[in-house]
Amino acid sequence: MIILGIETSCDETSAALVRDGRELLSEVTATQMEIHAAFGGVVPEVASRHHVEDITRVVENAFRDAAMTWADVDAIAVTCGPGLLGSLLVGVSAAKGYALATGKPLIGVHHIAGHVAAATLGTDVRPPFLCLVVSGGHTELLTVDEQFCFTKLGGTRDDAAGEAYDKVARLLGLSYPGGPKVDKLAFAGNGEAYAFPRGLLDEEGYDFSFSGLKSAVNNALTKQRNRREEISVEDVCASFQNAVIDVLVEKTRRALRHTGYTRLVVAGGVAANRGLRVRLGEFGEREGIDVVFPPLRWCTDNAAMIASAGYYRAQQGKESDLSLNAYAQLPL
Ligand code: KG4
Ligand code: ZN
Repeated sequence: MIILGIETSCDETSAALVRDGRELLSEVTATQMEIHAAFGGVVPEVASRHHVEDITRVVENAFRDAAMTWADVDAIAVTCGPGLLGSLLVGVSAAKGYALATGKPLIGVHHIAGHVAAATLGTDVRPPFLCLVVSGGHTELLTVDEQFCFTKLGGTRDDAAGEAYDKVARLLGLSYPGGPKVDKLAFAGNGEAYAFPRGLLDEEGYDFSFSGLKSAVNNALTKQRNRREEISVEDVCASFQNAVIDVLVEKTRRALRHTGYTRLVVAGGVAANRGLRVRLGEFGEREGIDVVFPPLRWCTDNAAMIASAGYYRAQQGKESDLSLNAYAQLPL
């Protein structure tokens, strides 16, 4: 089964052709990252306008790169939420238009289901597993069963992990998206230099909170600036990153113990984080857990993961119709 995937939930316009949920045939992504960097973050109105300009060319190029036509496609999968409403609407409207014109089935996909499915691209990784989703908009622990159905164990009560990275980067004067820059600087710093809080670590359950950590970083920086002390950006990054990773690893460890799962999939943009990869990799070896990180190219937003998730939805018989809408908020 060959699925055309379309993703426009934030600032990447992406289209991909994927066979049977796992085999990538082509993928084309137009990124707006540099455009938004000038504003220090994604500007929703600007993002949707660029999606409108890029979507047709991106889809056509995905067909060109795979040397395929609409006759080869079995269904169209599109991110219908959550995300920026104006951005989502461009992808959903395009997908509905293509479905109407070609008569191909339409499949609405939850963006997080896409991030989870990314772990199966180019691999034979199969559920059941526990999934830690860490992106710019989400921080969630989910169980994924054999049919690719999700149960949410917990999630963030305020900022997502990636959001905290981007906000702390901003406090340090680093450009958007700050996550990768903080990650890089952290490797040259002392992670014990600042005693930043580990949000909700002492609380039972699988919820996260990162807004207190961001405030603690802000307070420490303000105090040092007022005293005209020299600030080691590397030490701040390393101490912040340690605080984030300590919480992510410990809550994940508890969830694995509670569920009894022996496989962990780490998904979303922050899964690209080197520090997180190292710490969870060591944890997996120590505890006998199979830890799966999707390749870096599929950690951040892309349409291959949406085509893949669309395939698993099709297997469940969950097709959409032309009344499909876009939703800024959408439960899993
Ligand atoms: O999954 P994604 O592309 O978009 C959302 O669905 O949100 O994730 C983007 C987020 C941004 O907040 C970015 O700063 C963060 O992932 N990110 C990282 C790293 N690479 C991307 N955060 C920490 N370390 C990284 N290496
Ligand atoms: Zn995402």
